[in-house]
Amino acid sequence: MTTPPPRRSRRQTSATSAPEAARARVEALRAEILEHDRRYYEQAAPTIGDNQYDALVSELRDLEAAHPDLATQDSPTQRVSGRPAEGFAVVEHREPMLSLGNVFGREELLVWYQRLVRLTERSDFAFVCEPKIDGLAIALVYRDGRFVQGSTRGDGTRGENITPNLETIRSLPKQVRAPQGGTLPTAFEARGEVYLSKVEFSRLNEQRAASGEQLYMNPRNTAAGSLRQLDASITASRRLDLFTYQLGWVEGERPAATHYEAIAWLKAIGFPTNPLAERFTTIEDVATFCEGWAAKRDALDYEIDGVVVKVDDFALQRALGVVGREPRWAVAWKFPAEQAVTRLREIQVSVGRTGVLTPFAALEPVFVGGANVGMATLHNFDHVRALDVREGDDVIVQRAGDVIPQVVGPVLASRVGREHELRVFHMPDTCPVCDAPVEHDEGEAAYYCSNPDCPVRLARSLEHFTGRAALDIEGFGEVMCATLVARGLVHSLADLYDLPAKRDELLALEGIGAKTLDALFARLEASKSQPLHRLLIGLGIRHVGSETARALATHFGTLDALRVATLEDLQGVDGIGPIVAQGVYHWFQDTRHQALLDRLVNDAHVRTTEDAPARGGILDGLTIVVTGSMERWSRNEVESLIKSLGGKVGASPTKKTAFVVSGDGGGTKRDKAEALGVEVIDEATFIERLHERGWGDR
Ligand code: IVH
Repeated sequence: MTTPPPRRSRRQTSATSAPEAARARVEALRAEILEHDRRYYEQAAPTIGDNQYDALVSELRDLEAAHPDLATQDSPTQRVSGRPAEGFAVVEHREPMLSLGNVFGREELLVWYQRLVRLTERSDFAFVCEPKIDGLAIALVYRDGRFVQGSTRGDGTRGENITPNLETIRSLPKQVRAPQGGTLPTAFEARGEVYLSKVEFSRLNEQRAASGEQLYMNPRNTAAGSLRQLDASITASRRLDLFTYQLGWVEGERPAATHYEAIAWLKAIGFPTNPLAERFTTIEDVATFCEGWAAKRDALDYEIDGVVVKVDDFALQRALGVVGREPRWAVAWKFPAEQAVTRLREIQVSVGRTGVLTPFAALEPVFVGGANVGMATLHNFDHVRALDVREGDDVIVQRAGDVIPQVVGPVLASRVGREHELRVFHMPDTCPVCDAPVEHDEGEAAYYCSNPDCPVRLARSLEHFTGRAALDIEGFGEVMCATLVARGLVHSLADLYDLPAKRDELLALEGIGAKTLDALFARLEASKSQPLHRLLIGLGIRHVGSETARALATHFGTLDALRVATLEDLQGVDGIGPIVAQGVYHWFQDTRHQALLDRLVNDAHVRTTEDAPARGGILDGLTIVVTGSMERWSRNEVESLIKSLGGKVGASPTKKTAFVVSGDGGGTKRDKAEALGVEVIDEATFIERLHERGWGDR
């Protein structure tokens, strides 16, 4: 038997002199990769996807392995280094890495500003405002244009040498170039923040969820953990990013006299800098910038926890100096924290309209994201298991923007010594409301109450039936629906329309006067003429939301036609898949549902037809977002109108949104639209636009 020569020596022999073709290909690949880096990081306009990019790097790596004489230290492949290190060496910072004092609003900012005025006896300041990136501070040293050392902040005086890990970051320049018409200092230090984008954070967590691993808590901790890996190939797999925001020490001539110039210089020689930085000359404008980003922070793809405000002029910075570890010339305007730690008292279960049991967290109230939070969603049982949260745990709670508060995960460290206080949660075997057995299909996340007459289910169904998206009957809130069910005044959705016959019993209820009741009856009567799709939404058929209801109503035109539709008929409806078709089919086969429909149609005389199909299509292909309260129409009406004219209604602005129609209020969506550069118009302009497009002409 012959033994093949070891791979390494074979490569070395063939690589003594690389053939011209390999050399040319290596050079072409390097140039191409650098160009893609530039498009990706400097222009934010990549022209190839990540997989194609990885393929280029991989080809280059193979060629360099086969021809070691072609390998160079500054090759893009050297960024992805698998070199293991033995702990981190200590780096002494030549100049301390400082921290910042905080302000939490306009008033405190003004106090900070007045101190500047007092100390300098002047008021003609220029300030630079930059988003405060929620990541990890790092210091990068360049000598003769080459990246030679990178370190963490550490305690501000001494950090860790994490050069190999930083080399794996694509946006970190390995080599910088002199600016046009200028020269580079012999050596200098740039400081900045390494962060993980929200997209990358979700990608990593999806991977971890799929492999049953504990989820990461937030992008910041994940970035920190990724950077401090002894094995830099792990860092490389995390796709970290970087913004530089400060010029540190410089050997030779300082290239800038102000912070704003320094940032421009860093950008010009190849560093990623934050494009949102702005220079202002009044403190009012500074405050407005800060308030603006407090409202728009969710629109960014990276987390920010405030705005850093810096005095622009370096001479003034020096004159103002440092107290303790905080410079007087800079301050952080902090946003309310979006995560907090609190005790999870208990996991409770609520029952929804379809009978689905949803676990939720009952918490020790905690102030987070600008509000007091006592409850947070846990989605479903699988999620509770994936998070491995236990009753009695200290948990991280997150409340960002309009999103419902969530439990992010347990604080594992605080379990130590309190294990006996913790209880693992199990879904109940019986419904917490009616005691009926709970059903669960193997492989499905959802658990259901098996009792179709469960009182909570009926109350929730009533809320849904009368809700804005369905029959839109004002006056049937949560309390009203629960009362009607509890007092035995309603046993089925159809009983709603018998309420006028129970006037006296209703008047006996607390808080309902004759006038209110008559108005309620009038709205009840009016709701009978709502178009078919609204009735379909109201029935609460599983999987039938407003899009599907519209598709069904438009396709079949009448309830009668839909009731006799076969499974094939249903599958033939545009936009309806096999699962939804099955669900709809079975719903209509159920004799209880048939009885309900008979009563609604024959006794209550609800309308069973859809509006004539849209005439126009003047909004064909446009996605429009509606927010705030309108003057002329209700939000629902505007949305119905958009759909009837062929447009789509978006839940929240994205880059694809044509425009946002904003009434009074509607702040968050409007801000998000503005951050994305999406046009925001008011109701009157919207109506004008419709006329321009020929609305009402026919
Ligand atoms: S300047 C003396 N600019 O905030 C000024 N810091 O609390 C030092 N940070 O350790 C920092 N974004 O990790 C500055 N645009 C920005 C920043 C920023 C995030 C972090 C940095 C620093 C901490 C200060």
